[in-house]
Amino acid sequence: MRFWVIGVVMAGCALGQPGRLIFESQCALCHGQTGGGGRGPALNRPKLDRAPDDEALRTLITDGRGDMPGAWQLHPDEVVSVAAYVRTLGALPQETLPGDAARGARVYASKGCAGCHMVNGQGEGFGPELTAVGARRNAAFLRQTILKPATTLPEGFLYVSAVPASGAAVRGIRVNEDSFTIQVRNAGGRYFSFRKSQLKSLDRLTGQTPMPAFEGQTGGVDLDDLVAYLAGLRGTP
Ligand code: HEC
Ligand code: HEC
Repeated sequence: MRFWVIGVVMAGCALGQPGRLIFESQCALCHGQTGGGGRGPALNRPKLDRAPDDEALRTLITDGRGDMPGAWQLHPDEVVSVAAYVRTLGALPQETLPGDAARGARVYASKGCAGCHMVNGQGEGFGPELTAVGARRNAAFLRQTILKPATTLPEGFLYVSAVPASGAAVRGIRVNEDSFTIQVRNAGGRYFSFRKSQLKSLDRLTGQTPMPAFEGQTGGVDLDDLVAYLAGLRGTP
């Protein structure tokens, strides 16, 4: 009977904020209860150098790094929720912005952004998910990315062009690479895995991004509105 009651109480908490519970029991020891740091670095920052995007964050949590042990005991779903919780620790305070977010949503739709980005389950493609972009990027960064995306590339981001010995060339974002193989995701979201020895050529398009620069196409009010829309996207991915 007593176990039953405990089970219900725990399930209740877990449904509310599973990521927080996992963080407090397994990460806070080194990173502090609210991510202020300790044996491990502070995590209450909008930008984490070793976890530039959510995929990198999840990999880091699972595999560990240096003095940080890998959380092999966590189920992939738990890794997703603790990663989402880590992002909330560094959520930026809301800024007051000149634009109109509702109009910005229409600019977003008309510029084809959803062809490469997901927001709240809508959209597709190989750009980063933007559901919570307003919590991890400030307005200046968002504005700069829209105008000149090549100037704000995250660490580790690499666009490549691979030409297999037989078959069509593939352009895409590097997902993984080791000495012998490379995995690439193309604009259609398809994964390719190549043995480097079987490639005719492999070009690293360093400093390039498939995201078009909207400088010259978007300015003034449209740009303010678009930035206001993105800054307001603070959901849980
Ligand atoms: C035993 C101590 C320890 C535990 C437990 C631990 N970490 Fe860490 N963590 C570290 C250390 C040390 C580093 C720095 C690693 C390095 O860069 O060599 C780190 C780095 C990180 C980073 C990268 C920070 C940055 O600046 O980019 C993140 C994110 C992170 N940890 C999240 C977590 C999460 C989430 C958990 C729980 C699932 C966790 N850690 C558990 C010690 C720990
Ligand atoms: C052809 C695909 C493509 C299109 C179209 C596109 N993007 Fe991107 N976007 C990307 C890729 C790939 C990245 C990651 C590399 C980079 O930062 O350039 C990115 C990065 C971003 C980032 C940074 C996200 C982060 O977490 O740092 C923002 C913000 C963004 N895009 C907004 C937009 C908006 C707004 C539009 C429409 C005006 C748009 N994108 C159109 C592919 C695209």
